[in-house]
Amino acid sequence: MYALLFLFVLSTLALAWHALQWRAKRKQRGIFGPWPVKKHRLEDLDPVFIKTEHGSQHGTLASIIGNDGFLGSTSDTEAWILAVLAKKASRMFEFGTCSGRTTYILAVNSAPDAQIHTLTLAPDQKTEYTRTDQDDALATAAALKESQFTRFYYTDTPVAPKVTQIFNDSKQFDESSYHGTCDLIFIDGSHAYSYVVSDTEKAFRMVKPGGLILWHDYKGPRVAAGVFKALNEYSHIHDLMHIAGTTLVAYRAP
Ligand SMILES: C[S@@+](CC[C@H](N)C(=O)[O-])C[C@H]1O[C@@H](n2cnc3c(N)ncnc32)[C@H](O)[C@@H]1O
Repeated sequence: MYALLFLFVLSTLALAWHALQWRAKRKQRGIFGPWPVKKHRLEDLDPVFIKTEHGSQHGTLASIIGNDGFLGSTSDTEAWILAVLAKKASRMFEFGTCSGRTTYILAVNSAPDAQIHTLTLAPDQKTEYTRTDQDDALATAAALKESQFTRFYYTDTPVAPKVTQIFNDSKQFDESSYHGTCDLIFIDGSHAYSYVVSDTEKAFRMVKPGGLILWHDYKGPRVAAGVFKALNEYSHIHDLMHIAGTTLVAYRAP
């Protein structure tokens, strides 16, 4: 009898815990409160996203390939946000190319003379990857698994000349020639903590005044925990915005 009661209490508690976790995930917040990077409306990122009486402005018309998260890529909403931002960016940098879907979207939507530089680990460079004790084994495994491409969405397309493909480990990549020059930087390489920190430090040096840095996959403490930890730490020293309804975090350089 007591055993049955005990089981009943235990399963009720487990159900309640799952419900709290589900609610926290749906609301993009912690179980016991908001996440450290404060949530902002998309309009706070750029005035082009301010709604008119009809909804989105004409300036937000953009082309994307719908792929919604396939192969660690962005959701379609995130892809649209990046596409719109690319329209007024002339020099862009992406950490983590993968299939090249975002690279292609940035290239297709930007001005004819815009340049997109994208960095990724080639399949034959996996031994260059350096893991630290702070890094989550799952994030490391995912980073290496995703390092499988040498041809990309943009390859052999009319926008290919706008893209500079760099194959290197991002910790070893020397970013000094980019210092203070980038309008838009997208950080979406390895999600292991030490890599997020290294890529972020480089991005802060590469962004130009008034430029934007965007990180992908701010998803809470259970998924992409390295991204969550690093960005929470940076939020104490920089004004970071978590864009509501997305996993994007943004920083506008002063
Ligand atoms: C999540 S995917 C990027 C998705 C891509 N930005 C998109 O939107 O389609 C992560 C990428 O980071 C790359 N990557 C992982 N570890 C890396 C490293 N140490 N240096 C450079 N690139 C790395 C992987 O090869 C993979 O292409």
